[in-house]
Amino acid sequence: MTVQIPKTILITGATGELGQALALYYAAPDVHLFLQGRQQDKLEQVATRCRLREAKVTVVILELTDIVALQQWVNHTLSLDIPDLVIANAGININHGTAQRGEQWAEIDALLDVNIKATFALVNALVPLFRARGLGQLALISSLAAYYGLPVTPSYCASKAAIKVYGEAMRGWLADEGIHINVVMPGYIDSPMAEAMPGPKPFMITAEAAAQKIAHGLAKNHARITFPLPLNIGTWWLMVLPASWSQLILKKLHYGG
Ligand SMILES: NC(=O)c1ccc[n+]([C@@H]2O[C@H](COP(=O)([O-])OP(=O)(O)OC[C@H]3O[C@@H](n4cnc5c(N)ncnc54)[C@H](OP(=O)(O)O)[C@@H]3O)[C@@H](O)[C@H]2O)c1
Repeated sequence: MTVQIPKTILITGATGELGQALALYYAAPDVHLFLQGRQQDKLEQVATRCRLREAKVTVVILELTDIVALQQWVNHTLSLDIPDLVIANAGININHGTAQRGEQWAEIDALLDVNIKATFALVNALVPLFRARGLGQLALISSLAAYYGLPVTPSYCASKAAIKVYGEAMRGWLADEGIHINVVMPGYIDSPMAEAMPGPKPFMITAEAAAQKIAHGLAKNHARITFPLPLNIGTWWLMVLPASWSQLILKKLHYGG
Protein backbone atom coordinates (compact mmCIF):
# COMPACT_ATOMS: atom_id res chain seq x y z
CA MET A 1 0.00 0.00 0.00
CA THR A 2 1.33 3.48 -0.84
CA VAL A 3 1.14 5.84 2.08
CA GLN A 4 0.78 9.55 1.45
CA ILE A 5 3.62 11.24 3.33
CA PRO A 6 2.93 14.49 5.17
CA LYS A 7 5.47 17.19 4.31
CA THR A 8 6.29 18.63 7.73
CA ILE A 9 6.37 16.25 10.68
CA LEU A 10 7.24 16.66 14.35
CA ILE A 11 8.19 13.52 16.26
CA THR A 12 8.84 13.76 20.00
CA GLY A 13 11.04 11.17 21.66
CA ALA A 14 13.00 10.74 18.42
CA THR A 15 16.02 9.41 20.33
CA GLY A 16 13.94 6.43 21.49
CA GLU A 17 13.41 3.16 19.68
CA LEU A 18 9.98 3.88 18.21
CA GLY A 19 10.73 7.59 17.61
CA GLN A 20 13.83 6.72 15.56
CA ALA A 21 11.93 4.14 13.53
CA LEU A 22 9.16 6.67 12.81
CA ALA A 23 11.71 9.33 11.81
CA LEU A 24 13.41 6.92 9.40
CA TYR A 25 10.08 5.74 8.03
CA TYR A 26 9.03 9.28 7.13
CA ALA A 27 12.48 10.51 6.02
CA ALA A 28 12.28 11.27 2.30
CA PRO A 29 13.05 14.08 -0.15
CA ASP A 30 10.77 17.13 0.34
CA VAL A 31 9.95 16.10 3.90
CA HIS A 32 10.90 18.40 6.79
CA LEU A 33 11.30 16.52 10.06
CA PHE A 34 11.39 18.22 13.45
CA LEU A 35 13.02 15.64 15.72
CA GLN A 36 12.76 16.25 19.46
CA GLY A 37 14.84 14.57 22.13
CA ARG A 38 17.12 15.39 25.01
CA GLN A 39 20.30 13.53 24.10
CA GLN A 40 22.03 15.69 21.51
CA ASP A 41 24.50 13.06 20.25
CA LYS A 42 21.83 10.41 19.75
CA LEU A 43 19.47 12.87 18.13
CA GLU A 44 22.20 14.04 15.72
CA GLN A 45 22.82 10.41 14.75
CA VAL A 46 19.14 9.90 13.94
CA ALA A 47 19.11 13.21 12.05
CA THR A 48 22.13 12.18 9.97
CA ARG A 49 20.44 8.92 8.98
CA CYS A 50 17.31 10.83 7.97
CA ARG A 51 19.35 13.37 5.98
CA LEU A 52 20.94 10.48 4.09
CA ARG A 53 17.41 9.78 2.88
CA GLU A 54 17.32 13.40 1.69
CA ALA A 55 14.94 14.70 4.35
CA LYS A 56 15.40 18.18 5.79
CA VAL A 57 15.87 17.79 9.54
CA THR A 58 15.59 20.27 12.39
CA VAL A 59 16.91 18.92 15.66
CA VAL A 60 15.06 20.12 18.76
CA ILE A 61 16.71 19.61 22.14
CA LEU A 62 13.90 20.16 24.60
CA GLU A 63 12.97 18.92 28.05
CA LEU A 64 9.27 18.35 27.49
CA THR A 65 8.40 18.59 31.17
CA ASP A 66 9.48 22.25 31.08
CA ILE A 67 5.99 23.24 30.00
CA VAL A 68 6.78 26.95 29.65
CA ALA A 69 9.74 26.19 27.37
CA LEU A 70 7.57 23.76 25.39
CA GLN A 71 4.80 26.33 24.93
CA GLN A 72 7.30 29.03 23.94
CA TRP A 73 8.93 26.75 21.40
CA VAL A 74 5.57 25.86 19.83
CA ASN A 75 4.34 29.47 19.80
CA HIS A 76 7.55 31.19 18.67
CA THR A 77 9.32 28.64 16.49
CA LEU A 78 6.97 25.89 15.40
CA SER A 79 4.25 28.41 14.52
CA LEU A 80 6.51 29.66 11.68
CA ASP A 81 6.43 26.23 10.02
CA ILE A 82 3.36 24.44 11.36
CA PRO A 83 3.68 20.66 10.97
CA ASP A 84 1.13 18.67 8.98
CA LEU A 85 1.63 15.78 11.39
CA VAL A 86 2.74 15.70 15.02
CA ILE A 87 3.49 12.39 16.72
CA ALA A 88 3.51 12.77 20.52
CA ASN A 89 5.66 9.75 21.19
CA ALA A 90 7.93 10.64 24.14
CA GLY A 91 7.13 8.65 27.22
CA ILE A 92 8.56 6.74 30.16
CA ASN A 93 7.62 3.62 32.07
CA ILE A 94 8.04 2.58 35.69
CA ASN A 95 7.14 -0.54 37.69
CA HIS A 96 7.18 -1.85 41.25
CA GLY A 97 10.93 -2.47 41.16
CA THR A 98 12.94 -5.25 42.68
CA ALA A 99 11.34 -7.36 45.40
CA GLN A 100 7.95 -5.72 44.78
CA ARG A 101 8.92 -2.61 46.80
CA GLY A 102 6.16 -0.69 44.98
CA GLU A 103 6.25 2.42 42.79
CA GLN A 104 7.99 5.36 44.47
CA TRP A 105 6.27 8.76 44.48
CA ALA A 106 9.20 10.57 42.82
CA GLU A 107 9.00 8.10 39.91
CA ILE A 108 5.21 8.41 39.64
CA ASP A 109 5.48 12.19 39.70
CA ALA A 110 8.08 12.18 36.90
CA LEU A 111 6.00 9.75 34.84
CA LEU A 112 2.86 11.88 35.11
CA ASP A 113 4.88 14.95 34.06
CA VAL A 114 6.20 13.30 30.88
CA ASN A 115 3.39 10.96 29.85
CA ILE A 116 0.40 13.13 30.71
CA LYS A 117 1.24 16.77 31.37
CA ALA A 118 3.81 17.21 28.60
CA THR A 119 1.60 15.39 26.08
CA PHE A 120 -1.51 17.38 26.98
CA ALA A 121 0.52 20.62 26.94
CA LEU A 122 1.88 19.86 23.48
CA VAL A 123 -1.59 19.14 22.12
CA ASN A 124 -3.02 22.19 23.87
CA ALA A 125 -0.35 24.46 22.34
CA LEU A 126 -0.72 23.00 18.84
CA VAL A 127 -4.50 22.95 18.53
CA PRO A 128 -4.90 26.76 18.13
CA LEU A 129 -2.33 26.69 15.29
CA PHE A 130 -4.12 23.80 13.59
CA ARG A 131 -7.53 25.45 14.06
CA ALA A 132 -6.32 28.74 12.59
CA ARG A 133 -5.08 26.82 9.55
CA GLY A 134 -8.05 24.42 9.44
CA LEU A 135 -5.68 21.49 9.01
CA GLY A 136 -3.40 19.21 11.00
CA GLN A 137 -2.95 15.70 12.34
CA LEU A 138 -1.95 14.70 15.84
CA ALA A 139 -1.03 11.14 16.80
CA LEU A 140 -0.93 10.39 20.51
CA ILE A 141 1.08 7.32 21.45
CA SER A 142 -0.89 5.46 24.10
CA SER A 143 -0.66 1.66 24.59
CA LEU A 144 -2.79 -1.48 24.69
CA ALA A 145 -2.04 -1.26 28.42
CA ALA A 146 -4.61 1.57 28.45
CA TYR A 147 -7.56 -0.86 28.16
CA TYR A 148 -7.11 -2.46 31.58
CA GLY A 149 -4.65 -1.69 34.36
CA LEU A 150 -1.88 -4.27 34.60
CA PRO A 151 -0.94 -4.86 38.27
CA VAL A 152 2.77 -4.80 37.30
CA THR A 153 2.69 -1.20 35.99
CA PRO A 154 -0.21 0.77 37.56
CA SER A 155 0.93 4.36 36.89
CA TYR A 156 2.07 3.65 33.35
CA CYS A 157 -1.25 2.02 32.44
CA ALA A 158 -3.16 4.90 34.05
CA SER A 159 -1.11 7.48 32.14
CA LYS A 160 -1.70 5.71 28.83
CA ALA A 161 -5.43 5.47 29.60
CA ALA A 162 -5.42 9.24 30.18
CA ILE A 163 -3.80 9.81 26.79
CA LYS A 164 -6.30 7.49 25.11
CA VAL A 165 -9.34 9.19 26.60
CA TYR A 166 -7.95 12.70 26.00
CA GLY A 167 -7.19 11.86 22.37
CA GLU A 168 -10.65 10.37 21.77
CA ALA A 169 -12.32 13.44 23.26
CA MET A 170 -10.17 15.89 21.29
CA ARG A 171 -10.82 13.94 18.07
CA GLY A 172 -14.56 14.27 18.57
CA TRP A 173 -14.26 17.97 19.32
CA LEU A 174 -12.09 18.85 16.30
CA ALA A 175 -13.31 16.36 13.69
CA ASP A 176 -15.42 18.91 11.80
CA GLU A 177 -12.55 21.41 11.57
CA GLY A 178 -10.30 19.28 9.38
CA ILE A 179 -8.07 18.33 12.31
CA HIS A 180 -7.34 14.64 12.71
CA ILE A 181 -6.49 13.20 16.09
CA ASN A 182 -5.44 9.56 16.34
CA VAL A 183 -4.84 7.38 19.38
CA VAL A 184 -2.09 4.81 18.83
CA MET A 185 -2.21 1.73 21.06
CA PRO A 186 0.75 -0.55 20.42
CA GLY A 187 1.46 -3.85 22.13
CA TYR A 188 5.05 -4.74 22.96
CA ILE A 189 7.71 -3.10 20.81
CA ASP A 190 11.24 -4.42 21.03
CA SER A 191 12.99 -1.62 22.94
CA PRO A 192 14.79 -0.96 26.24
CA MET A 193 11.44 0.23 27.61
CA ALA A 194 9.78 -3.13 26.85
CA GLU A 195 12.83 -4.98 28.14
CA ALA A 196 12.60 -3.18 31.49
CA MET A 197 8.91 -4.05 31.86
CA PRO A 198 8.09 -7.01 34.11
CA GLY A 199 5.79 -9.81 32.93
CA PRO A 200 5.57 -11.79 29.69
CA LYS A 201 5.78 -9.90 26.38
CA PRO A 202 3.79 -11.88 23.83
CA PHE A 203 3.60 -10.88 20.16
CA MET A 204 6.48 -8.40 20.47
CA ILE A 205 7.29 -6.64 17.19
CA THR A 206 10.19 -4.51 16.01
CA ALA A 207 10.08 -0.72 16.16
CA GLU A 208 10.31 -0.65 12.35
CA ALA A 209 7.20 -2.84 11.99
CA ALA A 210 5.40 -0.69 14.56
CA ALA A 211 6.33 2.52 12.70
CA GLN A 212 4.93 1.09 9.48
CA LYS A 213 1.65 0.10 11.11
CA ILE A 214 1.34 3.52 12.72
CA ALA A 215 2.04 5.36 9.45
CA HIS A 216 -0.53 3.26 7.59
CA GLY A 217 -3.15 3.88 10.27
CA LEU A 218 -2.44 7.61 10.25
CA ALA A 219 -2.70 7.78 6.46
CA LYS A 220 -6.22 6.33 6.80
CA ASN A 221 -6.99 8.60 9.76
CA HIS A 222 -8.04 5.68 11.95
CA ALA A 223 -9.40 6.88 15.30
CA ARG A 224 -7.59 4.07 17.10
CA ILE A 225 -4.49 2.40 15.71
CA THR A 226 -4.03 -0.87 17.57
CA PHE A 227 -1.62 -3.77 17.05
CA PRO A 228 -0.89 -6.64 17.12
CA LEU A 229 -4.39 -8.06 16.62
CA PRO A 230 -4.26 -10.98 19.11
CA LEU A 231 -3.07 -8.72 21.93
CA ASN A 232 -5.59 -6.05 20.96
CA ILE A 233 -8.41 -8.59 21.26
CA GLY A 234 -7.02 -9.98 24.51
CA THR A 235 -6.59 -6.62 26.24
CA TRP A 236 -9.95 -5.38 24.95
CA TRP A 237 -11.61 -8.40 26.57
CA LEU A 238 -9.87 -7.59 29.84
CA MET A 239 -11.65 -4.23 29.71
CA VAL A 240 -15.15 -5.62 29.00
CA LEU A 241 -15.10 -8.71 31.21
CA PRO A 242 -16.10 -8.42 34.87
CA ALA A 243 -13.05 -6.96 36.65
CA SER A 244 -12.77 -9.97 38.98
CA TRP A 245 -12.36 -12.27 35.94
CA SER A 246 -9.77 -9.99 34.35
CA GLN A 247 -7.80 -9.88 37.57
CA LEU A 248 -7.78 -13.67 37.73
CA ILE A 249 -6.69 -13.99 34.09
CA LEU A 250 -3.83 -11.55 34.61
CA LYS A 251 -2.68 -13.42 37.69
CA LYS A 252 -2.67 -16.71 35.78
CA LEU A 253 -0.70 -15.04 32.97
CA HIS A 254 1.91 -13.76 35.47
CA TYR A 255 1.01 -10.07 35.25
CA GLY A 256 -0.15 -10.18 38.84
CA GLY A 257 2.61 -8.06 40.32
N1 LIG B 1 8.17 -0.22 23.90
C1 LIG B 1 6.94 -0.69 24.05
O1 LIG B 1 6.72 -1.91 24.22
C2 LIG B 1 5.77 0.25 23.97
C3 LIG B 1 4.46 -0.28 23.91
C4 LIG B 1 3.38 0.57 23.85
C5 LIG B 1 3.58 1.94 23.83
N2 LIG B 1 4.84 2.44 23.90
C6 LIG B 1 5.01 3.89 23.90
O2 LIG B 1 5.77 4.27 22.76
C7 LIG B 1 6.51 5.45 23.06
C8 LIG B 1 7.97 5.24 22.69
O3 LIG B 1 8.47 4.14 23.43
P1 LIG B 1 9.93 3.52 23.20
O4 LIG B 1 9.83 2.07 23.46
O5 LIG B 1 10.49 4.01 21.91
O6 LIG B 1 10.70 4.17 24.44
P2 LIG B 1 12.18 4.73 24.56
O7 LIG B 1 13.09 4.04 23.61
O8 LIG B 1 12.51 4.68 26.02
O9 LIG B 1 12.03 6.27 24.12
C9 LIG B 1 11.41 7.21 24.92
C10 LIG B 1 11.63 8.59 24.33
O10 LIG B 1 10.97 9.57 25.17
C11 LIG B 1 11.86 10.64 25.39
N3 LIG B 1 11.64 11.28 26.67
C12 LIG B 1 11.43 10.66 27.87
N4 LIG B 1 11.30 11.58 28.83
C13 LIG B 1 11.42 12.80 28.23
C14 LIG B 1 11.37 14.14 28.71
N5 LIG B 1 11.19 14.42 30.00
N6 LIG B 1 11.54 15.16 27.83
C15 LIG B 1 11.77 14.88 26.55
N7 LIG B 1 11.81 13.64 26.02
C16 LIG B 1 11.65 12.61 26.87
C17 LIG B 1 13.25 10.00 25.38
O11 LIG B 1 14.19 11.01 25.13
P3 LIG B 1 15.69 10.91 25.71
O12 LIG B 1 16.29 9.71 25.06
O13 LIG B 1 16.33 12.12 25.25
O14 LIG B 1 15.57 10.77 27.19
C18 LIG B 1 13.09 9.00 24.26
O15 LIG B 1 13.32 9.63 23.03
C19 LIG B 1 6.27 5.75 24.55
O16 LIG B 1 5.27 6.72 24.68
C20 LIG B 1 5.80 4.41 25.07
O17 LIG B 1 5.01 4.54 26.24
C21 LIG B 1 5.94 1.64 23.95
